[in-house]
Amino acid sequence: MDYETPQFFRVMEYAADADRDVVDMVSGSPDWEPPAALREGLRTYAGADPADFQYPASIGLRDLREEIAQRRGVDRRQILITNGAGEANHLAMLGGLETMPGGEILLVDPVYPYYAGRANFIGADLSFVSAAADGHLDPGDVRAAASDETAVIVINSPNNPFGVTYGADTVEGVLDVAEEYDALLVSDEVYDHFDYTGRFSSALSVDSSNRVVTNSFSKTMAITGWRVGYAVFPQGGDAAAELLDDARTRHMLTNVTGSRPAQAAVLHALRNTDPEYFERNRERLRERIATFTEALDAAGAEYTQPEGAFYVMARFPDFPGTFENVFRLVDEAGVAGMPGETFGTSRGDWLRFSLTTDRVAEGADRLADFFE
Ligand SMILES: Cc1ncc(COP(=O)(O)O)c(C=O)c1O
Repeated sequence: MDYETPQFFRVMEYAADADRDVVDMVSGSPDWEPPAALREGLRTYAGADPADFQYPASIGLRDLREEIAQRRGVDRRQILITNGAGEANHLAMLGGLETMPGGEILLVDPVYPYYAGRANFIGADLSFVSAAADGHLDPGDVRAAASDETAVIVINSPNNPFGVTYGADTVEGVLDVAEEYDALLVSDEVYDHFDYTGRFSSALSVDSSNRVVTNSFSKTMAITGWRVGYAVFPQGGDAAAELLDDARTRHMLTNVTGSRPAQAAVLHALRNTDPEYFERNRERLRERIATFTEALDAAGAEYTQPEGAFYVMARFPDFPGTFENVFRLVDEAGVAGMPGETFGTSRGDWLRFSLTTDRVAEGADRLADFFE
């Protein structure tokens, strides 16, 4: 698979050019409202003094870093505000590749394609460990796939594309493997507010100098276009200090800094948003999951029961998830999903559907009709 070319856009363009109405179940962009306090924060910011429109500290607004540090139970100095989790992942993966022994990045298949594209881009050797049939990750499998060559292991929970949430055992087990092989664990937790099981366990819950946790407000606050994310770097020791220093330097030399209005509004929203906002979003998604999986049952599909994030992977009888079949679904059913082959090899004949549309019920009905 060519991980460097964004395949999402290929499907989206095909769907946009179709001669019929298509339910877009491709993108991972939330379709719901951000917190009211976020809009309020941005409005207030528009009236600020010109001095407040100038460069913030390259590492991010101090108050935002402090707020995040308090919530995550870490020291503010461990936090770097980035342009989304995308940049946080990039800095962590590149930093791990440079500072840890070995030249390989170990990823979980099915994989979020940007990890694989980035690993290629930064010149790492790629290796994969397959998720178990139920979508979960067995640390024993990670151990078997790891070697002295492994510099970085990347995990994502709640998971895109599989929709599973890893528990504490998995995260601790994988971190053990990272420590054993002197590798850096990059734990991408962008979907941490979308856990429907209560099982989610952050890699921050284990103290280790071998892990970087990445996150962002893109999904949490429904603002993928704002670009505010962060990385929590480990503390203690020369290697950890080097990792953080290098990431700060790279971030500064590439971006100078991040967007100040976006950071200010996110800070305001963090301070003024009730937990109910996040629960409402989870509830909305629980309903969509129920609607969609009911239709999958009706269509005779096999699927992984979503436990987190907002994606469902499914396999329909005699209908492998190739690009060709995805385009057929667009034309003949009016539903756009993603081909399994874009997420690695282990689920090449599956399809991934995103639930970030208020037309999930319609998409579900169309699929059920098509496969009837
Ligand atoms: C697993 C995962 N990590 C990172 C990102 C990108 O996040 P951000 O918008 O914060 O860069 C996405 C977006 O879909 C994602 O699914």
